[in-house]
Amino acid sequence: MAAPRDWLGAVEEEGNSGLQGSSGVEVVFPSDPATPAPLCPHGPTLLFVKVNQGKEESRRFYACSACRDRKDCNFFQWEDEKLSEARLAAREAHNRRCQPPLSRTQCAERYLKFIELPLPERKFCQRCQQLLLPDDWEKHREHWVVGNISVGQLGRPSQLLRPLENKKTNAQYLFAERTCHFLVDLLPALGLTRVLCVGTPRLHELIRLKASGDKKSNIKSLLLDIDFRYSQFYMEDSFCRYNMFNHHFFDGKAALEVCRTFLQEDKGEGVIMVTDPPFGGLVEPLAVTFKKLIAMWKEGQSQDSSHKELPVFWIFPYFFESRIRQFFPSFCMLDYQVMISHFMTSSPASSSALTVTSLLGIRHLSTSPLHTCALSLGLSLSPPKINEH
Ligand SMILES: C[S@@+](CC[C@H](N)C(=O)[O-])C[C@H]1O[C@@H](n2cnc3c(N)ncnc32)[C@H](O)[C@@H]1O
Ligand SMILES: [Zn+2]
Ligand SMILES: [Zn+2]
Repeated sequence: MAAPRDWLGAVEEEGNSGLQGSSGVEVVFPSDPATPAPLCPHGPTLLFVKVNQGKEESRRFYACSACRDRKDCNFFQWEDEKLSEARLAAREAHNRRCQPPLSRTQCAERYLKFIELPLPERKFCQRCQQLLLPDDWEKHREHWVVGNISVGQLGRPSQLLRPLENKKTNAQYLFAERTCHFLVDLLPALGLTRVLCVGTPRLHELIRLKASGDKKSNIKSLLLDIDFRYSQFYMEDSFCRYNMFNHHFFDGKAALEVCRTFLQEDKGEGVIMVTDPPFGGLVEPLAVTFKKLIAMWKEGQSQDSSHKELPVFWIFPYFFESRIRQFFPSFCMLDYQVMISHFMTSSPASSSALTVTSLLGIRHLSTSPLHTCALSLGLSLSPPKINEH
């Protein structure tokens, strides 16, 4: 039987979720899964069911959680399918082959060596998207290599790296500078000291840049992102390769502990999670993941603050508001129009993305999500005018 089509079809219909008789593919989260989900190179797969005219087909299947395009990961297995030992072994070998060639620790060691090099020896291969150490030069001799990589460039990897182009899987729409600055400036005003950046590499780097240049700014950031290339620029305590559709840490328990420590430091005071998932990602698996991160943060709370909520900015197309609120009823949408900068050109996001948030005190004052309005931040801020940024 042919495998169901790519995720994107399902996603497009998710925007219309709630419509009677809709068709597409839905994720299933069995309350008591009899067997753990099989693994693809992106961690545990998700269980899906095809829906036709509002009716679920009886046979369910596992597919990749992260890649909505079968060209990126073609994992497919019927839920009731039994695999031979030989096929299981071949799958394991394939999963291993798909992992990046260097471990997280090796990447960190390379970075330390790289920053010790004199400026003319600091090279970056555009073709391989890799920082080169002198031993690598020969291998990349014929490639497009740029030199003199400054400390400033190392601090802004999202500008050095080419945005991944696959729209369905990676969709690396980076924030425009003014959106990024707006978010960074908001943090101290709200008394926040740590930011868990989930799929927001540009925000992460700007927070770090500000902290290193301004002694008064003590804001820390931890980036969780699936893009392995960021491993080259950060030590283990500031970047974990992570899949936000299944809460999978590619570097295992050590990386999970980095995240836990970050969230629970200082009894969880002053933390916010900011996430900008790839456009087209299914809301339900994201919500399940974010609830896990929130639970991790809550574990570190003292008894008397157990009523507190983790502040969250979830940046997503505005038409997902009702879907998100099915999982997080306390979230409210802000009329803040996020600007993206794609391939070095700054332009408003074609489908206006808005920030959905559970941040304490933020209220949504407008009836029309796309219209400019003022927000009352309710905390120590006087009401700012938030238009387009
Ligand atoms: C829409 S972009 C957001 C970038 C953000 N606007 C910024 O400028 O920092 C989505 C981000 O999520 C990452 N991403 C894509 N799929 C992911 C996954 N399954 N798990 C974690 N991160 C993922 C991409 O690498 C990218 O950095
Ligand atoms: Zn996969
Ligand atoms: Zn190269």
